[in-house]
Amino acid sequence: MSRFLQAVLALVMVLALTARAGEVVVGTNAEFMPFEFTDDDNNIIGYDIDVVHAVARAGGFEVRLHNQSFDTLIEGLESGKLDAVISGMTITEARKEKVDFSEPYYNAAQVIVVQEKTPGFEKIGDVKGKLVGVQLGTTGAGMAEEVMGENNPDLKQFRKYNEVFSELRIGRIDAVVVDLPVARAYVEKIPGIRISSPPMSVEEYGMAVKKGNSELLNKINAGLKAIRESGEYKEITNKWFQN
Ligand code: ARG
Repeated sequence: MSRFLQAVLALVMVLALTARAGEVVVGTNAEFMPFEFTDDDNNIIGYDIDVVHAVARAGGFEVRLHNQSFDTLIEGLESGKLDAVISGMTITEARKEKVDFSEPYYNAAQVIVVQEKTPGFEKIGDVKGKLVGVQLGTTGAGMAEEVMGENNPDLKQFRKYNEVFSELRIGRIDAVVVDLPVARAYVEKIPGIRISSPPMSVEEYGMAVKKGNSELLNKINAGLKAIRESGEYKEITNKWFQN
């Protein structure tokens, strides 16, 4: 190989590596409409996706999305496979022991969803003794578990909300515990189901990074601040939530 070619090759490799270095691998679980889900062409879209791209533009980094099951996102950060997570993830004390969270970017709450013909289910205590569906590893799963007990076979834990809600639709479970905006999205999509409880918790979503990665966390928080100030955050919120 000529010296010239060698030099060109070396340059290309350096460029490839630096391009990579600016890229942030962001884990999500695209099963959580309208925050992250897939369209008919299998593109990952949603509120969180718009937020993370806007934050990245403002914070000066590039995003590569990685779609995986919700219950593996935190360990993805811990092992270094992921640099960040955006996934409608509630900031909790337990999670804060394992990862660092950004400033909150969205407020949510758990609610119960049942078939329209099912009476009651107005509070979390009402799920006791019933068949309940949740997504594995979520705060909704935790709430149901607190009432029903750990490893209760009546608490059905799924990896996908699509499965949870199709089980509800055909009556194989009595109730679902899920975040309010997601409950609303499914109630709109699936006929014959309703939200039966008021909001039962106060939760805030945050983006997460590996514990101690303050460099990235600072960029994320700076990006969040910038898009709040520029009005872009508001635009994204209005695009996905009509209220
Ligand atoms: N907010 C809930 C939690 O943090 C549910 C999040 C589920 N997100 C998802 N993309 N599946 O546990």
